[in-house]
This record gives sequence, structure tokens and C-alpha cells, in this order.
Amino acid sequence: MGGHLSGGADAAGPADFEAQARERLDDPTWAWLAGGAADEISLRGNRAAWEALALWPHVLRPLQQAHTRVELLGRTLAAPLLLAPVAYQRLLHPLGEAGSALAAATQGAGVVLSAMSSIALEDVARHVLAEPARGPLWFQLYLSGDRGFDLALVQRAEAAGFEALVLTVDAPVQGVRERERRAGFRLPDGVAAVHFAGAPVPPPPDPAAMCAGLLARAPTWDDVAWLRAQTRLPLLLKGVLRADDARQAAALGAAGLVISNHGGRTLDTVTPTATALPRIADALGGALPLLVDGGIRRGTDVLKAAALGARAVLLGRAPLFALAAAGPQGVAQSLRRLRDELEIALALTGCASLADASRALLEPAQ
Ligand SMILES: Cc1cc2nc3c(=O)[nH]c(=O)nc-3n(C[C@H](O)[C@H](O)[C@H](O)COP(=O)(O)O)c2cc1C
Repeated sequence: MGGHLSGGADAAGPADFEAQARERLDDPTWAWLAGGAADEISLRGNRAAWEALALWPHVLRPLQQAHTRVELLGRTLAAPLLLAPVAYQRLLHPLGEAGSALAAATQGAGVVLSAMSSIALEDVARHVLAEPARGPLWFQLYLSGDRGFDLALVQRAEAAGFEALVLTVDAPVQGVRERERRAGFRLPDGVAAVHFAGAPVPPPPDPAAMCAGLLARAPTWDDVAWLRAQTRLPLLLKGVLRADDARQAAALGAAGLVISNHGGRTLDTVTPTATALPRIADALGGALPLLVDGGIRRGTDVLKAAALGARAVLLGRAPLFALAAAGPQGVAQSLRRLRDELEIALALTGCASLADASRALLEPAQ
């Protein structure tokens, strides 16, 4: 099957979209999207850590009022799902970020737009804000080392209607992307990080340069404090894995954290996010909303994330495999299915809502 059907029609699960995306994308683009850093131990480790957690379900609980809603930064989300920021989505589909973001909005899922978007943030915002069912609309950024440039980008995002900023802190330099290099990945003409056109600095992290020049302008906690003071928007930090860093972020006024290792694309052999999350949840004791990403593919993964202390999850590759396979409709379908799976997982573990999910739902470690 597969080849003769229009994209996505025969996709019964996330592995189907992944296989269809593999067929449709050329080798270099596939290496860029699916690959991780170095030996890809963290790429696999993220998945393995969710898989290794066994659910320990209750039976016969009353579930009449069961729902997947969560509160996040003052909004109610239909389900705790957001698209992770992923660069250059026009490599995957002509509509790029506008297509994936609108599809997410129709499903009530949140959108975190990458600073390295291949579609202008104003265009993405216009699509999302017009959708009544939409979830939160956030903008991800890196600090480039040029404060004037960074501030102008923040102000553009504010003016366009973005509701929070997500500062990615785990990628001051590019990881060792061996799979990409082997496949000869380079950006084709016509796809670019549009926000960086004419920028005084190259878009960080610059795929051409491993380290040279980048470390000199790598941001520090002082820059986070500076950014915090420049914007009225809530500021989340993405890429935190340690409890001490999480405490420091909270002390600096962060509005939330994304526990992330960049989908295993930066530092290889780093802690899986399912391992880091409960440590940070313990350290912060509910002081900040925690989000998590990395290898989340199934409704059961989302439930496990909630059980370990996450308020919501970010989805990177999974919806983008669907974008490459079947366009925006594929993205909508993959998010709808994930929400359905989450409802089923809640019902089958005896949870009426995600607030019922705690570590008691996971088998004790052997
Ligand atoms: C192709 C690709 C590009 C990415 N680009 C960005 C980016 O521009 N900014 C960012 O903060 N994270 C970026 N990420 C990391 C994602 O936001 C997210 O942390 C990661 O993909 C989650 O893991 P998952 O893909 O297993 O769901 C990228 C990830 C991928 C796969």
C-alpha cells in the first residue's frame, strides 16, 4: 500500500507518517530532520527512556467527567500539546511553518515558532490568531550576541501577537551532526531563516562553522536577565536539564521551563529528558510550569510526562514527519490522534484528568 494513496490516508500511526516522510524526502533533508548528534545515543535515549517506564493502571475508577484539558500560563488548552520550534519547515512542505501552525491551531494545539522559521513570524501569527480553536502562540529565539538585533526580533514577535517567548539555551554551538554531513545537507536556494535576512550576525547556530566565533557571543545568565527586563511577555527557557539551573531560571523570573535536549541534536550522550524531568519537578516543587520534549510519539508518552511533573509536551519530529508525508492535513491528523490516544490512556489508567497522573501511575523502579 502507501504509494498510490494520497499522502497520509493510510497512516494508522506515527510510524506510518515517518515511513512516508522517509520516502518523500531526499537523503540530505531526511538526515537533517531525523538525525541527531554524533552517535545518536541521546536521540535513541529519549525514546528509550519513555519506553522503559511501565504504566501501573487503576481499574474501575469513575470517569464520567474525564478530559484532557490543562491550564498553562493563564490559558486553558484542550490538550497539553504544542508544536516544538523546528527550523526551515519549507524544506518539508511548500507551506512550511504556516501550514503546520494553522493545522495545530485547528486542533487546539499550541505553536512555538522557531526563530529560524522559513516563513515570516507575522504570516504565521496571522494564520494562527484567526483560528478560534487555537492554543497558545509562542515565539522561540536564540540570543545572537547582538542585543539590538535580538530586541528588534522580540518586538516584532510582541507586535505580531505572540504570547510568550521561549529562549533556547542548549545550543550556543551546533552539535556534531555527522549524519547530516555524511548526507551532504545544505539549505537549498529559496529556503532561508527569513528573520535573519540582512542580520549583522549569521543565524545561530551557523551550520557552516563548528565553533569559531560562536563561543565569543554565547549567552550567559546575565543575558537572560537582560532579556527578561526587555519584554512584557512571559519568558520560558528551553533546554534545561539540571535542577540547579532550573532553580536559577526560577530566581531570574522565568515563567516556565522546557526540559529538553534539543531532540538529541546538540550534545550526545546527555541525560534523557524523561530522566531529567522528575528531578527538576522535585527541585522546583511546582513553582513553575514544566514542559518536556524529546521522543514523544504516543499518548502514553504524554501521560508519563504528566505523571513525572510536566504540564504539557512539545512535539518536534512526529508532526513534521506528518507534514512531509501529508501536508497540513497530516499534521492535524497526527495531533488529533495523539489527543485521542491520550484520552484512551487516561481512561485505561483510571485517570479522570491529567491532574490525576502522578508517579503512583508508574511502576516503581526495580
Ligand atoms: C529538524 C529540527 C530542527 C530544529 N530546530 C530547532 C530550532 O530552530 N529551535 C529550537 O529551539 N529547537 C529546534 N529543534 C529542537 C526541537 O524544538 C525539539 O526540542 C526536539 O525536536 C524534540 O524532540 P523530538 O523531535 O524527538 O520530538 C529542532 C529539531 C529538529 C528535529
